[in-house]
Amino acid sequence: MLTYEEFRLFSELIYQESGIYLKENRKDFLESRLVKRMLATGITSPYWYYKLVSEKKESELLLLLDLLTVNETSLFRNKPQIDLFRNVILPDLTERKQAGGDRNLKIWSAGCSTGEEPYTIAMEVCEAVPGCSGWDIRIFASDLSMTALEIAVRGEYTGVKVHATTEDYYIGRYFEKNGDGYRVKDALKKMIVFDFHNLKNDNGLGGLDVIFCRNVMIYFDEQEQRKLVARFWNSLNPGGYLLLGHAESLHGWDTGFQFIYDNKGTAYRKDERQEGNHHLRQKEMK
Ligand SMILES: C[S@@+](CC[C@H](N)C(=O)[O-])C[C@H]1O[C@@H](n2cnc3c(N)ncnc32)[C@H](O)[C@@H]1O
Repeated sequence: MLTYEEFRLFSELIYQESGIYLKENRKDFLESRLVKRMLATGITSPYWYYKLVSEKKESELLLLLDLLTVNETSLFRNKPQIDLFRNVILPDLTERKQAGGDRNLKIWSAGCSTGEEPYTIAMEVCEAVPGCSGWDIRIFASDLSMTALEIAVRGEYTGVKVHATTEDYYIGRYFEKNGDGYRVKDALKKMIVFDFHNLKNDNGLGGLDVIFCRNVMIYFDEQEQRKLVARFWNSLNPGGYLLLGHAESLHGWDTGFQFIYDNKGTAYRKDERQEGNHHLRQKEMK
């Protein structure tokens, strides 16, 4: 039903507006999502639906993008990386900050999906800074999918999901029973600010200590990935950290980020000695 010309129109619009890059082999996938929105809007021709989406970027386009996102996630996803966050990154940040009399910690979960990632971050921060007493701790969590964000804000998960990756110690401290499943305790929820944000655009966040952007860049092409990483560089404090997904890497890019590896966990540290704008160093390394 969807012609190649129509596929090209939609994929260009989607790329332009969200950075999500749909290769030609994703035509059936796009078609299946379009059908849902076309039925909901009562439009029978893909071209007329394209016109609607182009005109209503604040509403219909967002509904379509929501259907195109892959929201797979889990609590304590990529355990070695979470161990690195707990055992290396948080002690480094809290020690350095305490030495400098700074008691602010700002962390961003960019592409937070249904909330498991920011809740994991909040649990580890609570463990590293017991009671969070005397600290101003802010965790921002954002996503393009409103459906995912609604689940994130509720913080309710099935028992199977929670038990699959969460140790009993954490369940006992940070969750309460909710029927057959669990709900994140209010104290943990209160540490996180959830918001809609399209990573294609800058959101003005700065002075960040850690950015988690895991399993999001894989949906972007290299050009958009580089722009995103440049924005992350500018948003991070010197000595701040960027955590990417296990299939994502800055390997071969001259970014100024220093690669950190510990016990299979990986991260990138904004090298304090590097100055200037990261954009200027975006040359491919030989
Ligand atoms: C596979 S999930 C990853 C969730 C979590 N970071 C993790 O690693 O478990 C990818 C998330 O990225 C979001 N996403 C994709 N494109 C985005 C964009 N342009 N702006 C913001 N979020 C985006 C999707 O909505 C989805 O929730």
